[in-house]
Amino acid sequence: MLLDGKKVSQEILEEIKLAVDARKQAGKKVPHLAAVIVGNDGASKTYVESKIRACEKVGFISSHVKLDESISEQALLSEIEKLNNDASVDGFIIQLPLPKHINEQKIIEAVSPQKDVDGFHPINVGKLCLGMKTFVSATPFGIMQLLKRYKIETAGKNCVVIGRSNIVGSPMSILLSKNDYPGNCTVTLCHSKTQNLKDIVSKADIIVAALGKAEFLTADMVKQGAVVIDVGITRVSDNSAKGYTIKGDVKFDEVAPKCSYITPVPGGVGPMTIVSLMMNTLQAVEVSD
Ligand code: GUN
Repeated sequence: MLLDGKKVSQEILEEIKLAVDARKQAGKKVPHLAAVIVGNDGASKTYVESKIRACEKVGFISSHVKLDESISEQALLSEIEKLNNDASVDGFIIQLPLPKHINEQKIIEAVSPQKDVDGFHPINVGKLCLGMKTFVSATPFGIMQLLKRYKIETAGKNCVVIGRSNIVGSPMSILLSKNDYPGNCTVTLCHSKTQNLKDIVSKADIIVAALGKAEFLTADMVKQGAVVIDVGITRVSDNSAKGYTIKGDVKFDEVAPKCSYITPVPGGVGPMTIVSLMMNTLQAVEVSD
């Protein structure tokens, strides 16, 4: 069965819109998300445009801050300081990756934790590790929502997360191991140095593929009846009009017949990531009510 992220995200967007309408009725502040993009990376531009469009759909105010590729680290830090101090802005994100001359970690740490709706700041990551209420990084948050909305059983299941990025793999592994629902899995975090990956993955009840390698996960690595979550969105060059096709980390056509549930690409995790950012932004404004 397909885990239809497009459909579920539309339902959640509708719920957020109702909450925003209720806020407006009550004379409360309308949530305002700012998105900063540095440079001209095609994929990053597409993602940020989708985030701005989602703001429009739910009735948020949005600001799209476009900065030149050549901006200095210091100038970017000043832009962040402006957003930290701008009371009209409830939350903001700096789209990653950043140009090589900018220290990404320094930028992440400059964002006020109260406005860090991406959940990347060390304080927010720490809170997530401790199970405290915080901004959960949008992709893992979206995956948790998807598992919840489809009422997928997670307690006691063997879950394998492939990929240990700060944005997806690491927080995902922590969330799924929490004493909560979704959660309570026995989690194995696999990465580029993992030995016998196929042996480990093929025992999993739930697989989260988040390594960023197109069509990496093949049918021989998947147990019959597994739940497969595909986080990949790699642009693979081809002869189409766009010049590329989007591929997930899962070889969908051969893996899908073995799964109890699987996310498609596109239309699975991607739209859930965007809606999670909207949920975090609503949380940011609610905290400051
Ligand atoms: N680059 C890839 N994913 C993300 C994300 O969730 N947030 C930001 N800011 N940049 C990203």
